[in-house]
Amino acid sequence: MPIFLDTGNLAEIEKFHRMGVLRGVTTNPTILFKEGVTGGMKGIEDRSRLIAKLIAPYPLSVEVTAPDRATALAQARTFAGWADNIVVKVTVHGPEGELENMELIHELETRHDIRVNVTAMMSAQQCFLAAMAGASYVSLFGGRVNNMGYNACDEIRTLRTVLDRFGLRAQIIVGSTREVLNVIEWLEAGAHIVTAVPSLLEGMLVHPYTKETVRMFLADGARLEARLKG
Ligand code: E4P
Repeated sequence: MPIFLDTGNLAEIEKFHRMGVLRGVTTNPTILFKEGVTGGMKGIEDRSRLIAKLIAPYPLSVEVTAPDRATALAQARTFAGWADNIVVKVTVHGPEGELENMELIHELETRHDIRVNVTAMMSAQQCFLAAMAGASYVSLFGGRVNNMGYNACDEIRTLRTVLDRFGLRAQIIVGSTREVLNVIEWLEAGAHIVTAVPSLLEGMLVHPYTKETVRMFLADGARLEARLKG
């Protein structure tokens, strides 16, 4: 299931879904805010239900934002109730490194049968522990890793090696795409999935030399047709 779209934009999701190239969608509060989603929780619910219906049975990740564990648990259960293909996103820890999210991740997967995507991770070791806790998906932010000055491909390779060695079922999602090349290089390094912003998928497809070649085919096709008529 290699390519997810990292967006809340319905038109972009529809476009790539019609092409048959997407296998899931990831969102986060920043993406939905930038996308202009309004109406508080009702707005998030409406947009999430629409996306989930559009891409079913492929998964849609929706992130919990509650400040404490009890409210986060309630929020996660609500999100998961919106559609069968909703995966709940939980950050690996709180803003000051609080660790209670790890318990929540474990509880959601093992006691509530809710699929969890653990997010905002910057290293293989964070992802490994999230996988140990039972997460279905572990999200490494590749672009942010590169921006910190170390290579996301190395983290991905290390992570895939240990997940496979110890038989952990978590799927590696690498997000935070910044360049067209990221998609193929992160998949090659061992990511199960790369979640890409729509403009980068377009960048993967369109090539200037392909344009030139297609123009040549069309022009010669027209000439050929004229010759056959004449
Ligand atoms: C992944 O699931 C996240 O939504 C996303 O890729 C974050 O990327 P950013 O670094 O562009 O915020």
